[in-house]
Amino acid sequence: MNTFPPLKNDRILRAARGELPDKLPVWVMRQAGRYLPEFMEFRKNHSFFEICQNAELACEVTLMPIRRYDLDAAIIFSDILVIPQALGMTVEMKAGIGPVLPDPLTTENLNELKIDGAVERLKYVGEAITLTRHKLEGKVPLFGFSGAPWTLMGYMIEGGGSKTLSKAKKWLYAHPDASHKLLELLTNIIIDYLVMQVEAGAQILQVFDSNADLLNKELYITYGLPYLRKIKQLVHLKLQEKKLEPVPMVLFAKGAHYCLPEQADLGYEVLGIDWTLEPEVVRRLLKGKNVTVQGNLDPCALYAPKEELARLVQNMIKQFGSQRYIVNLGHGIYPDMPPDSVQTLLETVHSVNI
Ligand code: CP3
Repeated sequence: MNTFPPLKNDRILRAARGELPDKLPVWVMRQAGRYLPEFMEFRKNHSFFEICQNAELACEVTLMPIRRYDLDAAIIFSDILVIPQALGMTVEMKAGIGPVLPDPLTTENLNELKIDGAVERLKYVGEAITLTRHKLEGKVPLFGFSGAPWTLMGYMIEGGGSKTLSKAKKWLYAHPDASHKLLELLTNIIIDYLVMQVEAGAQILQVFDSNADLLNKELYITYGLPYLRKIKQLVHLKLQEKKLEPVPMVLFAKGAHYCLPEQADLGYEVLGIDWTLEPEVVRRLLKGKNVTVQGNLDPCALYAPKEELARLVQNMIKQFGSQRYIVNLGHGIYPDMPPDSVQTLLETVHSVNI
């Protein structure tokens, strides 16, 4: 068992549990990334996956935004595509393009995925988490994360990002059995991967279903929700079996506004919300549900002048209210966004009396 320094800032954990913290918690998706000059400097000497796979390097990058800002959480530097990599697929990170998987999955080569030992091959993520927990000295909680089954399926079949996901969606309509087989095997790996991250020291977990926006309610009921429910239930159960404390889990199903109440019934303590929904609509759809919401400032609001950004943030907080609320963007921060805008966002959030 690891022993770590005591936690000094538990705002985010309190909000996730439904308690009222002293101030509203705030963090930023992709907070350790290319908008930070120190990250760009670092990237000159190290490739993307070199950083992911080396505990010292991943820890250093994870801490960059924590040193610079008054954030309420850190998130381990990694990527959702380390799972396809651990399954034997090649993943390249191409500048200006993003991730590329040169040999995408087909219904013919599905059986060639190397399932045995996949989680073992991801042990480097655990090592980075453990080191980071020590180096954080209890300043803020550390997020672990994974891609959701559907989002990983999308990247594995499309061979990268896609505007339509038509190849992956073709599986859902034309090859339902192969789709379920793939989603099931990804689900099982995600469960063990997340449990391993908690064993290593992750204090809260986020599941990214960034491709949910291209499904609809019927498809999500069949191919999304059951697997997300299994992930939540089995992570909880396996932590119990290992006598580990349960950790809160965040589900960020980007664009899945077509089934927000259904998401709230999966058991996740927190639902991430993208920027397309008004806070009042979110609260109305989730009325009576036992969940905290996280979000949902339009990332592009960070391009606004300081005063306008502060007004937008205050307005969002007023609409969401302070109960069961974690402030974040509605998606990740972009590389060309001004670092000072993150400062304005954090100062505005922390200056609100709750
Ligand atoms: O600070 C953090 O949030 C932690 C690190 C993190 C990264 N990727 C680092 C990264 C996290 C949580 C992710 C998750 C991730 N990766 C998602 C889900 C979140 C989302 O944005 O929807 C997805 C879909 C991916 C896959 C991925 N990785 C894409 C689409 C890209 C290209 C994005 C782009 O803007 O070009 C990446 C690359 C990536 N992941 C970068 C970083 C810092 C930039 C690559 C670089 O440094 O060259």
